[in-house]
Amino acid sequence: MKPLDAHDADAYDALPKVELHCHVEGAIRPQTVMELARKNDRRLPTSDPTELYRYTSLDSFLEVFWLVQSLLADPDDWARAAHESIIDAAPHGLRHREMFFTPARHLAAGQTLAGIVEGLSRGIERAEADTGVSCMLICDIDRSFGPGPAGELVDAAIELRRRGAGERLIGIGMDSTERGVDPRDFAEAFARARSAGFHVTAHAGEDTGPDNVATALDALGIERIDHGLAVMDDPDLTARLAELRVPLDVCPSSNVVIANRFARLEDHPFRGMRQAGLLATLNTDDPAMTDLDLGREYRSVAAAQGMGWEEMTAVALDGVEASWLDESDKRRVRAQFRAEIAAITPP
Ligand code: HPA
Ligand code: ZN
Repeated sequence: MKPLDAHDADAYDALPKVELHCHVEGAIRPQTVMELARKNDRRLPTSDPTELYRYTSLDSFLEVFWLVQSLLADPDDWARAAHESIIDAAPHGLRHREMFFTPARHLAAGQTLAGIVEGLSRGIERAEADTGVSCMLICDIDRSFGPGPAGELVDAAIELRRRGAGERLIGIGMDSTERGVDPRDFAEAFARARSAGFHVTAHAGEDTGPDNVATALDALGIERIDHGLAVMDDPDLTARLAELRVPLDVCPSSNVVIANRFARLEDHPFRGMRQAGLLATLNTDDPAMTDLDLGREYRSVAAAQGMGWEEMTAVALDGVEASWLDESDKRRVRAQFRAEIAAITPP
């Protein structure tokens, strides 16, 4: 099959897709960023937020991410962010998303997890009705706040579940800066989340080496790895993850633009990860803060890595396997994806 070029827009948007690594705060439209700042009486350093969207490292990105996320001041703001993020992704083939939010800053400022989850759930429900896209939530621990707030966050999530609120909240994750943070400090919080029945995942190996992934896996008992690209530096770890089919939700464009890990998409190990047997999927991470959408991510990676249509449809189907849908939903979604893929004219 001929290599694809970056202009084969329709097939890549039509390809049905699951997304397992997208931060709702990183998916806020620039226009909405401006409007939230005005509504909540917050001054931004520029009248065009996209001027801030250039990063030299993960930590420089996080400064901007924290500024943007701090504009979400009440449940209605969270509802708007969630709703728009799904409305924007649907035309690019999104069918199911398990979406991160990172509320440490908001909880410290007096918001409640119950209010945030209520707002997000309301926005998601409206978007589901508008688009048919399904979406569940993963509450991320912000590592930079340390293990104390992490434990409190998990307790609040458990309490929400006990009260029968927050049925969309299916997982606990962890993001933010990797450097100088030992994943083992969060072992207790993750153990409590696991025993309360939450799925668990964590960002690892985005900005540091393979030891960070191995430690997160062993100390936190995570089921999935967010990014995880550093595993390719450790053949034994790669073989272990491939054998166990541990999903890696990889974000190649983000790794170029945010973590500055590679100069070009061509240099990213995505195809090599799959050829090594890893269950590596494609995701946008922070689409509005990197001028990205999921159709473009598939299209660009296919072109840059020389991946054919068959390989890319396999990536989309692996998204279903890597998700936290239950087995009967996975069977249903997989059959639906296969039928839709059969009707797409390959690029
Ligand atoms: N890594 C760490 N923290 C983040 C990211 C990421 O990719 N996106 C938003 N917060
Ligand atoms: Zn991320």
